[in-house]
Amino acid sequence: MAKGHWPMVSQILERMHLAPGLQCLDVGCGNGYAVRAMAQQVQPSGQVLGVDVAPAMIEQAKANPENPPNVAFQVSVADRLPLGDEAIDRILSVEAIYYMPNPLAALKEWYRVLKPAGSVWIMVDFYKENVYSHVWGELVGLPMHLKSERQYRELLALAGFTEVMSKRLFNPEPLDEVCKANFKPGWGYNTIEDVVDFRTRVGSLLLSGKKSALDIPPEI
Ligand SMILES: C[S@@+](CC[C@H](N)C(=O)[O-])C[C@H]1O[C@@H](n2cnc3c(N)ncnc32)[C@H](O)[C@@H]1O
Repeated sequence: MAKGHWPMVSQILERMHLAPGLQCLDVGCGNGYAVRAMAQQVQPSGQVLGVDVAPAMIEQAKANPENPPNVAFQVSVADRLPLGDEAIDRILSVEAIYYMPNPLAALKEWYRVLKPAGSVWIMVDFYKENVYSHVWGELVGLPMHLKSERQYRELLALAGFTEVMSKRLFNPEPLDEVCKANFKPGWGYNTIEDVVDFRTRVGSLLLSGKKSALDIPPEI
């Protein structure tokens, strides 16, 4: 999972303007690879918290011997975070929001914990314009929200975010010959050309938004 997402996540981290001293959060952090990567960029005084609903993922994240001192991991649902208001400068969430029972409630909670001028960065591969992903809900066997790029942008705006932006990210690493030779149909990809199409034309969907520096509540 982590290995597959890293070529895109590294591009997101470049856009997040991470700097020493920033407080960061990864929601649905999985094994914590992105938490560790962010921690390197905000050290020594900046900290990164990774939260995940799955206790097994948090245990795995905590047990990683490469954890630097400025990381913490905690079991938490995305829409009830163990944080006070305006505690966080940057929020990252990779391939997680569509599993959340109420994505809008999660986004509103992320807005609450962000400091004014803080930003949220969300990546999804499961979205309407990626037709290859449409079967994933059935294959995973969990309830998943299939939303379009526009619907995600609207959701971010509804939660109060400004400067809402969306963009596709592409894996710059070429598919190697071994990968091509070992290709087996599955996960919506019937041929190797489908994989190439996803990697070169469809891409991963990145969404971002900012909490206004003036912190005007969304209902005003
Ligand atoms: C596909 S994994 C992605 C993990 C990691 N972000 C990555 O890039 O590999 C989705 C993660 O979201 C977590 N998750 C799902 N629903 C959640 C929720 N409501 N609150 C917090 N985490 C959640 C899952 O436990 C899982 O670890």
